[in-house]
Amino acid sequence: MPVAHRRDFILWMFRNGLITLMKLYMTRRAMTNHERRIAITGGAGFIGSNLLLQLLPKYPSYFFVNVDCLTYAGNLSNLRSIESCDNYTFEKLDIRDRSAVADCFERHRIDSVIHLAAESHVDRSIDGPMLFVQTNVVGTANLLEAALRQRERIGQFRFHHVSTDEVYGSLGDTGYFIETTPYRPNSPYAASKAAADHLVRAYHRTYGLDVVTTNCSNNYGPYQFPEKLIPLVIRNAREGLPLPVYGDGKNVRDWLYVEDHCRALDLVFHRGSAGETYNIGGHNEIANIDLVTLVCNIMDELLGGGPRRDMIEFVADRPGHDRRYAIDASKIEKEPGWMPSVSFEEGIRATVGWYLDNEQWLAECASGEYLKYYDKMYGNR
Ligand code: NAD
Ligand code: DAU
Repeated sequence: MPVAHRRDFILWMFRNGLITLMKLYMTRRAMTNHERRIAITGGAGFIGSNLLLQLLPKYPSYFFVNVDCLTYAGNLSNLRSIESCDNYTFEKLDIRDRSAVADCFERHRIDSVIHLAAESHVDRSIDGPMLFVQTNVVGTANLLEAALRQRERIGQFRFHHVSTDEVYGSLGDTGYFIETTPYRPNSPYAASKAAADHLVRAYHRTYGLDVVTTNCSNNYGPYQFPEKLIPLVIRNAREGLPLPVYGDGKNVRDWLYVEDHCRALDLVFHRGSAGETYNIGGHNEIANIDLVTLVCNIMDELLGGGPRRDMIEFVADRPGHDRRYAIDASKIEKEPGWMPSVSFEEGIRATVGWYLDNEQWLAECASGEYLKYYDKMYGNR
């Protein structure tokens, strides 16, 4: 090689080496500069997406790793507005894979987790419980193990476990779930969440892991997969399909707007006391038949036509169907101090409006596999 070429080559190598070193330094600096490094599991799902959309702009000094394996319920398009943010990355990862979870926590130097990833639909759990055991129980155990290892490395770790009011079972006409209500789960879904809650508690009592657990009532709002009651009714009403109401339609749920749930998660994550559990609810009980009728009326108002309530069909009940859920949220209201801020009137109108404005989103969720699922679940009801 002529001397001039060799010199150019050496200069080229030097420059590239320098650039690579600079990049490594910057990455390293960015990693050490973040105030917190939080894994959000299930960040591509309904509540996880809403949570990331709320937390990312609020905490620019935190780094967020969205850990999700993208089941039918995970949808990265929900997160388009934040996907190129410097303080966000996505890890396609199955929480059932213990070594992958541990590796992810180590690589990203995770110091806390808000754990939402789960199989979340009661009807699917009745059809196939084992996946719920694997994801919700084993998956949570894998995360707890990875959290312990991480604490050994970095000295601290906060584990926020996101659970459900369904662990408490069913209420009669009166009374509320409080944090000390005995667990009486009735569906495989609820039982798998209850098992996960117990594991989280045990890792606190036995290993001193810094954990908080929240048990929330039914959420509604944008980005909910249309197997769940509200988006299912909106989609069916739009498509001119029957609106299936289970049993006598008098089962009662306590509905909370998803953004209010996310605000509660933010508060408990930051200010909840280690080892404590917090109930979160909307003070908003409504029977399924009244809710479906209300959604129909709002659609009639917005779209004309109807009355869509005439499309309601009472179908065979869900086995083990819990009659009533209602949350006493006074603990979280006192400390750390949270109240729902979106009224049901406001929230349900915004939600119906969102699904009508985002027909494409709904159509994409409800294509392919969903149609097979719908046929299987509702075909013989
Ligand atoms: P969802 O079904 O919409 O989303 C679940 C997310 O978890 C999806 O993105 C999915 O891809 C991901 N996931 C599933 N299995 C996984 C695995 N093995 N590895 C990695 N990712 C996986 O659920 P949601 O309604 O957003 O609920 C989130 C959490 O909140 C759940 O733990 C649920 O039990 C709890 N919760 C939900 C409600 C509600 O009304 N939706 C109320 C109270 C509590
Ligand atoms: O309470 C919190 C729970 O709320 C969460 O832990 C679950 O992840 C979430 O899915 C939700 O569970 P529910 O079973 O209450 O939600 P779902 O939307 O499936 O049903 C709400 C109510 O409506 C319930 O009483 C069953 C009824 N239902 C549901 C569907 C899908 C119908 O009547 N018809 C339907 O087609």
